[in-house]
Amino acid sequence: MLCCGKPMAPLVEKVDGEFAEDHRPSTWRKDDSVVLEIGATPHEMTEQHHIIWLEVVTPKRIIRIFNPGDRPEVELELPRGEIYLRVLCNRYGLWKFRVKFSAENEDKYRIISKAVDSFNTFRAPEARARVLEVSDDTLKVEFTGNLCRTCGFYDYFEDFRLILKDEGLYSQLTEIRELEDSTIVKYKLKCGM
Ligand SMILES: [Fe+2]
Repeated sequence: MLCCGKPMAPLVEKVDGEFAEDHRPSTWRKDDSVVLEIGATPHEMTEQHHIIWLEVVTPKRIIRIFNPGDRPEVELELPRGEIYLRVLCNRYGLWKFRVKFSAENEDKYRIISKAVDSFNTFRAPEARARVLEVSDDTLKVEFTGNLCRTCGFYDYFEDFRLILKDEGLYSQLTEIRELEDSTIVKYKLKCGM
């Protein structure tokens, strides 16, 4: 196949490997919809490196085309079952990811969303929580704000865990990753404890 007289190379979808996490969608609930945003922290959207488009592969096919400066995300009605997302990055090519939504997860999403609202009501703007990823047994939360790093730094993350517990979702804090402007905290979710 030619374009402007030059042969076109097929794009090969990657599903894992180096840079996969930078392109895998983070999901979180927003009322009755779900937001899928590219990257564990939002993918950069500069001229040099950005997401060109994403496609949600469901019976209703959805395509979003982005420009540098846009937020690389899409908001959907909460899907049932599995969906696929295809993402084209101008630097690292085409990716394909599977995202699962189950009834059990739906309940989990509801609790997590309530916990985030509750945490932000009392802690923001000093500390603000945002869900980056929910999988079967892991929850990844980004904390931003002027978190005091010397006094009670871990209390914020423990506090969030206790809010989840009060709502009936038990978890264990397993990882704290400090970045320049935020802290990413991973919780292992447990059932029925
Ligand atoms: Fe990229």
